Amino acid sequence: MAELSGHIKKADWKTEKHVPVIECPDTVKAGEMFGVKVTLGKEIAHPNTTEHHIRWITLYMHAEGEKFAYEVAHAEFNAHGESTEGANKGPVYTHHEVTVTMKTAKAGTLHALAFCNIHGLWESSREIGVG
Ligand SMILES: [Fe+2]
Repeated sequence: MAELSGHIKKADWKTEKHVPVIECPDTVKAGEMFGVKVTLGKEIAHPNTTEHHIRWITLYMHAEGEKFAYEVAHAEFNAHGESTEGANKGPVYTHHEVTVTMKTAKAGTLHALAFCNIHGLWESSREIGVG
């Protein structure tokens, strides 16, 4: 049986439009709130149409010394121009970008997973220090 991890794609976000981009401070203070912005298509825009769009982004954190990763936030993007007039005729579109406010007592690695409705799962990660 194939493992799911084999279907989670990784690449450089500067050349691949599906890779989530995690923006946050390199180092934060223990227990102090900070913002993490996760988006994609920063260098090469990803389409946002009824037929082809980013469905969701989930942010996880694996804190140093912890056995498992923690889910930090999950954002669903549910408007892609659908309407009674047909595909791409609606006035409302959600952009695939989310800003999460969080805190951590430990340094670790942030992992973002994004799902494109026709190109599947994409992952990226970023270290975050606590100083
Ligand atoms: Fe796509």
